[in-house]
Amino acid sequence: MVLPTTALTISPTTGIHNWFPDGELNMSYNALDRQVDDGRGDQVAIAYHSSVGGNSRSLTYRKLLEDVSRFAGGLRELGVEKGDRVLLYMPMVPESAVAMLACSRIGAVHSVVFGGFAAKELAVRISDAEPKVIVTADCGLERDKCIPYMEAINSAIELASCDEPKVIVLRRPEGAERGIKYEMKDRDHDFLETVEKSQPVEPVPLNANDPLYTIYTSGTTGDPKGVLRDNSHAVHLKYSMSSYYSTFPGETFFAASDIGWVVGHSYIVYAPLLQGCTSVLFEGKPVGTPDAGEYWRVIEKYKVSAMFTAPTALRAIRRDDPNSEHLPEHDISSLRACFVAGERADPDTIRHFEETLGIPVVDHWWQTESGSPMCGVQFEDVGTVGGSCGLPLPGFDIQVLDPYTKQQVTEPGVLGSIAIKLPLPPGFMTTLFNNNDRYKKSYLEAFPGYYDAGDAGMLDRNGYIHIMERTDDAINVAGHRISTGLLEETVLRHPNIPECAVIGVNDDLKGVVPVALFIVSGDREGGGDVKDEVIELVREYVGPVAAMRTAIEVQALPKTRSGKILRQVIRKIANGEEYKLPGTIEDASVVDGILEVFPEGWRGK
Ligand code: COA
Ligand code: AMP
Repeated sequence: MVLPTTALTISPTTGIHNWFPDGELNMSYNALDRQVDDGRGDQVAIAYHSSVGGNSRSLTYRKLLEDVSRFAGGLRELGVEKGDRVLLYMPMVPESAVAMLACSRIGAVHSVVFGGFAAKELAVRISDAEPKVIVTADCGLERDKCIPYMEAINSAIELASCDEPKVIVLRRPEGAERGIKYEMKDRDHDFLETVEKSQPVEPVPLNANDPLYTIYTSGTTGDPKGVLRDNSHAVHLKYSMSSYYSTFPGETFFAASDIGWVVGHSYIVYAPLLQGCTSVLFEGKPVGTPDAGEYWRVIEKYKVSAMFTAPTALRAIRRDDPNSEHLPEHDISSLRACFVAGERADPDTIRHFEETLGIPVVDHWWQTESGSPMCGVQFEDVGTVGGSCGLPLPGFDIQVLDPYTKQQVTEPGVLGSIAIKLPLPPGFMTTLFNNNDRYKKSYLEAFPGYYDAGDAGMLDRNGYIHIMERTDDAINVAGHRISTGLLEETVLRHPNIPECAVIGVNDDLKGVVPVALFIVSGDREGGGDVKDEVIELVREYVGPVAAMRTAIEVQALPKTRSGKILRQVIRKIANGEEYKLPGTIEDASVVDGILEVFPEGWRGK
């Protein structure tokens, strides 16, 4: 480790921030070797709890260090060097964390793709990241389904426009038990053999600004953005565990997310380990695996101090267990706070869980780009405020700006664009992978001197921030950011659909779900129902995670005279909100057709 002498430099041309530019460190060293050296070798580092596989086990810091060092050696033997990309398409198993930490040990850049994305979306990410190696598994477990991951991997590699990567496959006993028999190909290597047979390697010193990982997130267009984060991230992560999550060495942190999302990177893998905590790696759902008491069971079993989940998961628990009958079955007295993020949290859900759990349920705001919370309350001091995600946290100067005048809005209750005054703190994205121009255009140009968060929000009378909705075409479905632009591109693949609009409609469980409106033209082949074909297209090309369950044929879509579809008007009608027709509307009578499609109370039908 080399201590930095410079805190921050910012490139005047690209806007790229370099925190601690002459500092050196290694994430895996700080997460593992340092903990073992400090006497934590026998402490559980990762408590893997599978509610779907029934194969729970724990890895101590010593065992995790050994597996990571050997897997890093295995990657090296396959030719992976510093700066090379390694793509992960993995279920929620400890081997996913092993592979991530092994990459960080040798300076390889990992890129984890969420398992709920289908082959085509996976292929887009493979083409962009150009990985030397893909790490995957023969299956993922979803409630009562066993998902054959290798089918997606094989077709994605075929579709991708880059050299064929080598593939390391974790063959899970759960797959074999459920009839998955994957035949290894010449390019494939077995995960467990790689760990067993490879020579362990030492962590390499990395510059604070060497890339740690890329993670793809949705933007306005169908092309995902490869958010790039560097090793200086360690600073903010470690700091946030003490200063924000108030979880200390030896305690247990439970982030009920997935390693395919940023929350999983930060608070399942890196931050708890940097802090010397035990991290629960949970494979399952908040409900139905087996019931709505599963989170409380996990908290009791691992004596969890703090947990993190999405509001949608709490809504699901409340829906299945409205009278909290599962709670008294478990001793959750170790739990001091429950943090929620990923989407706007409705005050009623927060209040319900504060009352039933008897602890603060803390809403906080962050994004894939930030890598850690930007806004929240220091729960011990101030308490929570329904509907708000708190105050800016240290390192973030968050302001509401008027999108037209670009001036700061300080008046309470006035909606504006949420922006962060530069500089951004360490651990924030540094740029987009291979695309500095898009980074600048997407985030730094709308409000000179600010980072544009892509969210709309407002201040309340006490200066607390309320994040209301996205300003781009992304929607948050069950806490997952999905691009409606991508969904529209996918619907338009249908040979009989020349035009469509995909909008986010409010949903009691998932917060928002996508609904497609489409026009049909031309001769039809086959006697199938177009709306079923649309839903199937989205499953096939984007993946089940998009949760597109409603597609509706219409005669016409309302547009401006310049041909822009009035998506906001359609969305407001669908959500039963007040709407205004712009003077530039081409044919106002088209709106009648939309009103017919969404009569009052249509969602319950
Ligand atoms: N691999 C493969 N498929 C996956 C998957 C994965 N990792 N994750 C989800 N899917 C599939 C599911 O099987 C489901 O497919 P189906 O349509 O065939 O049933 C689809 O994607 C939607 O899954 P999900 O979003 O989990 O919806 P659900 O209806 O099964 O469950 C909730 C609803 C609310 C319980 C669930 O969305 C949830 O737990 N949300 C919390 C999300 C979260 O923690 N986000 C953290 C962000 S901070
Ligand atoms: P993602 O990058 O997928 O984590 O999505 C980030 C987006 O989720 C943010 O830009 C917000 O739109 C939304 N979001 C995250 N946390 C909150 C929150 N606490 N309140 C409201 N919206 C949130």
